[in-house]
Amino acid sequence: MTSPNLRKYNDTFPILGNGNYIDISSVLVGDITLEDDVSIWPLVAARGDVNTITIGARTNVQDGTVLHVTRRSTQNPNGNPLIIGADVTIGHKCMLHGCTLGDRILVGMGAIIMDGAIIENDVFIGAGSLVPPNKTLLSGYLYVGNPVKQVRKLKDSELHFLKQSAINYINLKNDYLAQ
Ligand SMILES: CC(C)(COP(=O)(O)OP(=O)(O)OC[C@H]1O[C@@H](n2cnc3c(N)ncnc32)[C@H](O)[C@@H]1OP(=O)(O)O)[C@@H](O)C(=O)NCCC(=O)NCCS
Repeated sequence: MTSPNLRKYNDTFPILGNGNYIDISSVLVGDITLEDDVSIWPLVAARGDVNTITIGARTNVQDGTVLHVTRRSTQNPNGNPLIIGADVTIGHKCMLHGCTLGDRILVGMGAIIMDGAIIENDVFIGAGSLVPPNKTLLSGYLYVGNPVKQVRKLKDSELHFLKQSAINYINLKNDYLAQ
């Protein structure tokens, strides 16, 4: 699939997997890799210009979310790429900047995750939370607030929901692809 919302930067261009859904109103620029079954919903802005963005299989990036990265410098030789794992749900209007997310994570609506933050597998981040630079969120916990604080261990139903949410969005994007 190529369309005007997939854009080149220097010699880099988004690389797509199989079964991706990319809403026509979203913009993906430069060095971005999408694995299979990723969905990108309306008005997402993803800019892989001064570093790389990778999005793992079956992850959904919901409406109005902004994805960006930090350039390499002498103080920070690798810069901060944005690395998002598999089966991640990124809610509406989030901001993910130069951070690393594992698998099966829910990023609540409007959350902000800053450079160098690491979110381990199976984490739930409440709506409107702010994850400060270089902070690590541990696997299996709910975090909320600005700045985020660990609230409690996730319940079994919430751990299950992390997987179910990804499945729901795969089904939804398949509906959209079939229209
Ligand atoms: C955090 C969340 C998971 C609820 O967790 P919970 O343990 O069931 O929390 P409760 O609803 O019982 O509320 C417990 C307390 O946390 C507060 N709270 C709930 N969500 C909060 C949030 N996102 N940020 C800060 N505080 C929050 C409540 O006001 C309540 O405070 P109180 O004890 O002073 O009254 C939920 O509110 C949330 O943010 N979900 C994210 C949903 C989302 O964005 N999905 C993606 C879109 S598809």
